[in-house]
Amino acid sequence: MSPKIKFQTPTGMKDLLPEDLEFYQRVFEVVDDFAQLFGFNKIQTPIVEDVQLFEKGTGGSTDIVEKQMYILKTKGGEYLALRPEFTPAFARAYFEHGMVNWPHPVKLYTFGPLFRYERPQAGRLRQFYQFNFEIFGSKKPISDVEIIYLFWEILKELGLKNLIVHINSIGDKQCRPYYKKSLVRYLRSRERDLCPDCKRRLKTNPLRVLDCKQEKCRTVIAQAPQMLDYLCGECKQHLERVLEYLDALEIPYFLNPYLVRGLDYYTKTVFEIMPDNVPNPTALAGGGRYDDLLKLIGKRDVPATGAAAGIERIIALMKEQNVFKPSKKKIDVFVAQLGDKAKVKTLKILKDLKKAKIYPAFSLSKDSLGDQLKIADKLGAPFVIILGEEEVLKGKALVRNMKTGVQKEVKFEKLGQEIKKLLKKKK
Ligand code: HAM
Repeated sequence: MSPKIKFQTPTGMKDLLPEDLEFYQRVFEVVDDFAQLFGFNKIQTPIVEDVQLFEKGTGGSTDIVEKQMYILKTKGGEYLALRPEFTPAFARAYFEHGMVNWPHPVKLYTFGPLFRYERPQAGRLRQFYQFNFEIFGSKKPISDVEIIYLFWEILKELGLKNLIVHINSIGDKQCRPYYKKSLVRYLRSRERDLCPDCKRRLKTNPLRVLDCKQEKCRTVIAQAPQMLDYLCGECKQHLERVLEYLDALEIPYFLNPYLVRGLDYYTKTVFEIMPDNVPNPTALAGGGRYDDLLKLIGKRDVPATGAAAGIERIIALMKEQNVFKPSKKKIDVFVAQLGDKAKVKTLKILKDLKKAKIYPAFSLSKDSLGDQLKIADKLGAPFVIILGEEEVLKGKALVRNMKTGVQKEVKFEKLGQEIKKLLKKKK
């Protein structure tokens, strides 16, 4: 029984153990591969940023800014937030490092941890990982589709099945005010039937009511006016082009007139990728176009589009659909030592083994050969290198086949080659 422990991971946060990290590693590898294929450059931004960046960028009336930011005051009196998303930080970096002068569009990506003070539940963590892609400097519908296609292909490469893209347009600053007016008028007429949160949203951010998952609000929403009927010519044309491209790429989508996103900065295209045909699906990825955000942050008009995916949600689905098996780490050889000189020699021969691409295990704190052979056996090492004081003096080690017990002397400098040969023969 393990001893009673006092400290545990903070609520909503997880330790990632070796087996978990194999899944993360797999996702990171696929993301890096596709980033290269699509010509995105990787950047890393700090885990904390000025609180105001998110207040301004993510938006003052979003759940993230209203209730989910981890804020800390530094000794110097600055207020910093643990980043709840990447997008405003990318926009900051774009201006701060003069990317305005780079050839456009500027295509950037990253992955890493984010923090949101959520009510912990399945698929909602307080520390979670995203991969995130942004394109700065293109207002073309094809750039929205490039992002959707990229996320779609990454998820497919990871082996995920039965997915669908939910897509909508939430218009722009020309047409959205008309829609907002009409939506507010309708929601006011049904205010009695809304949940307390939505009653509040009706005043602060009425579009967010459309996102409510409460049964009684869903009934009200089902009869609400739709943004699609209010789109101006430009937004309508943009959406039509996006849908045409999706058709041409044969990406299955659902034009969901009530899809709005939880962040303030979107214009025109918004989308989420989620499992199809399951009750209350949660989004694996979400994003869209945000042509006004960069002006807010850098005082310069730069159209932009992008998206992010939640890695824990992706891994949960990979496990559910059984599409990836972490490989058990294979040990090629165990190095067993007897005596101090042999312990030092063990460390010295590691580099030779590495050169020959051989992966050893060893246990320097153990003194008895019997104990070390037991560990070698547990690890499934097919061969053991045995080093005693005598072997060190002779410049040779014993190499034992764990299955047959046959052993032979091998010069230290030949160990790498010899083990390689033996491993080949074994296959
Ligand atoms: P988001 O919809 O807030 O968008 O997050 C994107 C994805 O991150 C979600 O679809 C979900 O998979 C995952 N996610 C969000 N919150 C949590 C959580 N508490 N626990 C686990 N996973 C979570 C953004 O973050 C935007 N910055 C995306 C974007 C980029 N838009 C344009 N560019």
